[in-house]
Amino acid sequence: MLLTLPATEDVIVDHDSLLLQSDKASLDVELLSNVSCYAFKEEETSMLKIAFIGAGGVNFGGLDPGAPWDHASRLEELSKTIALEVVGISDPNQARLEFVLKERQAKNLKLWANTQIFADVKTMLDTARPNGVFIGLPPFAHGEIEEMCAERSIDMFIEKPIACREPAFVENLRDCFNTRPGLIVSVGYMLRYHKAVVFIKNFLAENNIQPASICARYNSAYTSMPKPGFWDARMSGGPVIEQGTHFCDLVRYFGGEINLDSVASICVQPSSVMGTLSEVPPGCDVGVPEEHRIARATSSLFKFKNGAVGMLQHAITMKGERYFTEVELWCDGYVVRLVDPYSSTDCRVEIHDSSNKHQVYKFPDDPYLTEDRVFLEALHSRDSSKITSSYSDAVNTYKLSYQIQKGCYEK
Ligand SMILES: NC(=O)c1ccc[n+]([C@@H]2O[C@H](COP(=O)([O-])OP(=O)(O)OC[C@H]3O[C@@H](n4cnc5c(N)ncnc54)[C@H](O)[C@@H]3O)[C@@H](O)[C@H]2O)c1
Repeated sequence: MLLTLPATEDVIVDHDSLLLQSDKASLDVELLSNVSCYAFKEEETSMLKIAFIGAGGVNFGGLDPGAPWDHASRLEELSKTIALEVVGISDPNQARLEFVLKERQAKNLKLWANTQIFADVKTMLDTARPNGVFIGLPPFAHGEIEEMCAERSIDMFIEKPIACREPAFVENLRDCFNTRPGLIVSVGYMLRYHKAVVFIKNFLAENNIQPASICARYNSAYTSMPKPGFWDARMSGGPVIEQGTHFCDLVRYFGGEINLDSVASICVQPSSVMGTLSEVPPGCDVGVPEEHRIARATSSLFKFKNGAVGMLQHAITMKGERYFTEVELWCDGYVVRLVDPYSSTDCRVEIHDSSNKHQVYKFPDDPYLTEDRVFLEALHSRDSSKITSSYSDAVNTYKLSYQIQKGCYEK
């Protein structure tokens, strides 16, 4: 069915009301809602044993001011409909472990009733014997832990970036995973599950158009990044690998594979006058050797294998907590614009077409909840077909992020 848009000027439509009034809006809601409904089959109700590796911000929240993420609270929500329990949390930081366990157990949910804490990952895997793990580690700490999980056939949800070393490192891990058919590995590129991104994918497919040019812009709020590791490329890989990678992934998701030889990048060096940031969080960006300090702004141009062109603009120059993020797709007859996908309330898609009118669709959504639900559903059903970011696919996003990051310092 062709996706037809209301022919009124500057229409603003709430996605949820669109779903309810689908006939009037002439939208193919079947496609739009394909990640939003979840029904458990009766035979799939055996209890999943889940463990967390890393008790930091992405798994338990509370460490990044204003941040919308944390998997623990999504699992609390999902445990209302999915049979699961958390059997272990592992982190070398004992104080943090005790804090998050106490905080979660205070909620008196069955989910946390049998949770044990471990300083050592291997001990946890062999004692608590989880079916699946959520891996939320600093970029430099990936590798051995994933191998230990794979050896034990433990399925993995791995937060991006999947590493910060040479691409061969993640290619080796990918090959290791591929020797274990049936192993489920999902990578945390949550924007792929966002209703707005699903809408755009469907819009392109239904109208049989491909972007000839993609422009992705990501500017994050550096004052709300208080972790010293982020500011040291030896630990984070640098801001495009650590963070801009979300938009490297979206660029690939919308536009296809990129010829890595075509990537050309430049950056604002931290030591330059232009690279001066007035409110770097205390303890960050100090004592880091010059060559490992991180770029303040990066611009990159590249060509897709299908002949299209693209660019990524990444920076860490915003203050406060709000990011500025948008992706523009220029297609035959349309400009499609994704705006503010990190906002749970304000994300929107604009469609500009030849009629000189444009429509605005609002997509309030929580893609973290959807990506976690899809992962847990895959573990229950042993069907990973709804996971949109596999490890193999994420390796290609890593290679693009790495190429942009590495190249930007060389000029
Ligand atoms: N998808 C997203 O939107 C999103 C959001 C935030 C963070 N992330 C990613 O998640 C990853 C983790 O980020 P974070 O904010 O939780 O970092 P964090 O620094 O808050 O937490 C990391 C935790 O890992 C622990 N750790 C270190 N080595 C370990 C080991 N060998 N075994 C077990 N635990 C170990 C640390 O002690 C720390 O508690 C990063 O790669 C980050 O980019 C993704």
